[in-house]
Amino acid sequence: MTQKKPLVILTRTLPDSIETRMRELFDAKLNETDQAMSSEALLKAVQTADVLVPTVTDRIDADLIAAAGDQLKLIASFGTGVDHIDLAAARKKGITVTNTPGVLTEDTADVAMALMLAVPRRIAEGDKVARSCTWKGWSPTGMLGRRINGKRLGIIGMGRIGEAIARRARGFGLSIHYHNRKRVHPETEAELEATYWESLDQMLSRVDIVSVNCPHTEATHQLLSRERLSLLQPTAYLVNTSRGEVVDEAALADLLADQQIAGAGLDVYADEPNIPKGLVDLPNVVLLPHIGSATIEGRLGMGEKVIINIQTFWDGHTPPDRVIEAML
Ligand code: 8YV
Repeated sequence: MTQKKPLVILTRTLPDSIETRMRELFDAKLNETDQAMSSEALLKAVQTADVLVPTVTDRIDADLIAAAGDQLKLIASFGTGVDHIDLAAARKKGITVTNTPGVLTEDTADVAMALMLAVPRRIAEGDKVARSCTWKGWSPTGMLGRRINGKRLGIIGMGRIGEAIARRARGFGLSIHYHNRKRVHPETEAELEATYWESLDQMLSRVDIVSVNCPHTEATHQLLSRERLSLLQPTAYLVNTSRGEVVDEAALADLLADQQIAGAGLDVYADEPNIPKGLVDLPNVVLLPHIGSATIEGRLGMGEKVIINIQTFWDGHTPPDRVIEAML
């Protein structure tokens, strides 16, 4: 007997080959406009779909989940972060949630490393000067930045991405410090020659660059509060490729403006696509539009994971990337 294909609703446009495969395997409803769905459209989707494929741009909150029909069994998110989904509400309603970890690790680490180089070495500012026709030529004191080699990097959240950043950073002569809920395996720590700080506050006041790589959860919401950001040295830089909500953005903008922090490289913001004006106006920040995982290879890997998660689930097995709240 052939099994009924699940009705799979995609909230955004995914790469062609992923959508084609989804159409072959499932009763897939595509979003050809790539406009983020309105709350009405999302509501309709959860009332009809067997499987919803959302992205970071959709708010799958408790109200939406409560309004979902009983046919909705799986939320197969396209992305690793799951802070846009109310996991507890999904669990209570018996809806399984999956994500796409592992396939965007290297790409996100590359962007974090790029920001770590770009801000202290003033790459974006330099690009503007070179294009502006105002460059007066080389000068011994022109556009001086800060050296990377020999500095201390403090990684907040030593998961896959944190580790991938540490490996890259070592190649640039940075020493590795980290704060994590749990200490990493002693072999990894030894290989990275990493120093573990149980106290985030103690680490913050001692490192030259801070990289935010923990997920956004209740426990990490504004983890870098005004008070904690004030612990950074005035020569320190902050890089965030995780989630804007982990940092008090208003405090960050104030401290950067007052030169109590030397600079920041940001790829993520609390209220995307809105970037606080206080940050946009500063010369000592490099701002990217959430492109950490934006490679063709990364997007295909994410799409393939979504397909495997849906197919495995629909075949009656536990999907490989099932998200369990306790894991976060
Ligand atoms: C994704 C991300 O592209 O996976 C994540 O958590 O932050 C992004 O890089 C995005 O979430 C897609 O939904």
